Amino acid sequence: MDSSSIQRDIRDRLIIGLDVPSVDEARALVASIGDAGTFYKIGYQLGYAGGLEFAKEIIGQGKKVFLDLKLHDIGNTVEEGVRSVARLGATFLTVHAYPQTMRAAVTGKAGSDLKILAVTVLTSYSDQDLVEAGYAPVPTEELVARRAGQARDLGVDGIVCAAPEAARVRSIVGPDLAIVTPGIRPTGSSADDQKRIVTPGEGIRLGANHLVVGRPIVKAADPRAVTERIVQEIAAAVS
Ligand code: C5P
Repeated sequence: MDSSSIQRDIRDRLIIGLDVPSVDEARALVASIGDAGTFYKIGYQLGYAGGLEFAKEIIGQGKKVFLDLKLHDIGNTVEEGVRSVARLGATFLTVHAYPQTMRAAVTGKAGSDLKILAVTVLTSYSDQDLVEAGYAPVPTEELVARRAGQARDLGVDGIVCAAPEAARVRSIVGPDLAIVTPGIRPTGSSADDQKRIVTPGEGIRLGANHLVVGRPIVKAADPRAVTERIVQEIAAAVS
């Protein structure tokens, strides 16, 4: 993939998680961040509360949008759903890393600029959770590695993973896929419910192409100032 065109503007390496309950709040936040932020992630919370129309609105203003909808269904449904998302003009869309689903998503995005990101194993899952879900005992990290390899082979554009996994995932998928990592906390901000956090600079040095930051920006008294500081830290880590 041409990840360089997405990263040409250093601000694009920061994806701001628009984890707010309403379009009005999202609109106010995007306006307050202004040109400091260029790339926004819309997940279940806002997506199911008018967020898809809002995605079109901010794409029309020149912002990039990552739709974190984690699709997984029969192939035909995934393919047609991805085709609809591609028409919205989104830049990234997540799907669960099941081979049928990834294959269908890659077919559905054909001819568009949409990039598909695979979620290998949800980071909330332990080895025991996989057994409970009916998998034969398998260490989560082995399943992450297997699915990352399948994503690469099936033509997926990138992987979502925690920063501490980035080096291993990079060794599997090679240099061309995008690695997108949440669990980022600027020095001094609360970890919230994230267990394995790294700073923006560490995230970049561990091999992430894009960092997802939600609450440290969304809940800040001055979201624009925090955004600017994170972008500066990314720029320092890149140079
Ligand atoms: O507020 P915070 O910076 O923790 O937000 C991180 C964002 O990344 C949230 O939207 C969360 O759903 C998402 N995410 C995550 N961990 C994953 C996958 C996605 O935190 N493994």
